[in-house]
Formats: sequence, structure tokens, C-alpha cells
Amino acid sequence: MLALIITTSAHAQEAAPQDTVAIGKKLTTNNCAVCHTFGKGEPNGQGPNLFGIVGRPLASETGFKYSAGMKAAAAGKVWDEKLLDAWLTDTQTVAPGNAMTYFEGDEARRRKIIAYLRTLH
Ligand code: HEC
Repeated sequence: MLALIITTSAHAQEAAPQDTVAIGKKLTTNNCAVCHTFGKGEPNGQGPNLFGIVGRPLASETGFKYSAGMKAAAAGKVWDEKLLDAWLTDTQTVAPGNAMTYFEGDEARRRKIIAYLRTLH
């Protein structure tokens, strides 16, 4: 398993609100696309496709083999912004034993990433 901990920011300036989604898209491309796809119907990668993730039940992407930890944590839960924020901060607090090795410690960056994920519908 690839261990990826992102500590650097390419463009660290605080964004104007209208730029939030655009910057979130860029952050997502740079930090998540190595493992995830985002377009409707795109194939799963090392991680599941994330189209429509906000409002989607945990561990529900067809054809993706989720870890036991992820499946155990799902229990009828749905991804909302609060849960996604907790997930990106430390996935192990949401689903102990899950297989995603990514953490985003910067609250402002998480907010932008989640703003972009919200547009994927
Ligand atoms: C090194 C590969 C990798 C990177 C980088 C990565 N992920 Fe993941 N992600 C995974 C894997 C693998 C899973 C499935 C975990 C499991 O089954 O335990 C996952 C699961 C998820 C889930 C749960 C999906 C579901 O169907 O319930 C979300 C949400 C998610 N990732 C978002 C992100 C976001 C947003 C980023 C970038 C900020 C990111 N991931 C970066 C590998 C990665």
C-alpha cells in the first residue's frame, strides 16, 4: 500500500469564496486523483469512484472491494460534509482499519476539497 502524506501546498494563499471550488478541484486533482476518479461512470482505481459522494452511503460504490474496516463502519451512514471533513482529517477515526492512506491536516484545504466534491452530481 502506498503511504501518501501531503504536507506541502502548491498555492497556499487564502482564496476568495468564488475561487473555492476551482481551487478545491485543483487540490483534488493533485492529491486524490492518483487513487480516485471523479466523473460519472468512471472506473474505480485504488480507491472507489467518487462521483456523487456527498449524500452517498458509505462503502456503496458498485464493484469496489472495500476493506473490512470500511464495511464495518458503514452501518447505514451517509457521507455529508462533516463526516468527509473528519475522514480527510484522519480516516481512522471514521473507519478504523480502512485502507486509505491519506490525511489532510489543513482545515482550509479540506473545506475547498469538500466544496468541489459537492459539485459532483
Ligand atoms: C493512496 C490512495 C488514496 C488517496 C491519495 C486518496 N484515497 Fe480516498 N480512498 C482510497 C481507498 C483505498 C479507499 C477505500 C478504503 C477502504 O475500503 O478501506 C478510499 C476511500 C475514500 C472515500 C470513501 C468512499 C466510499 O465509497 O465510501 C472517500 C470519500 C475518499 N476516499 C476521499 C478521498 C479524497 C477526497 C482524497 C483526496 C483529498 C482521497 N480520498 C485520497 C485511497 C486513496
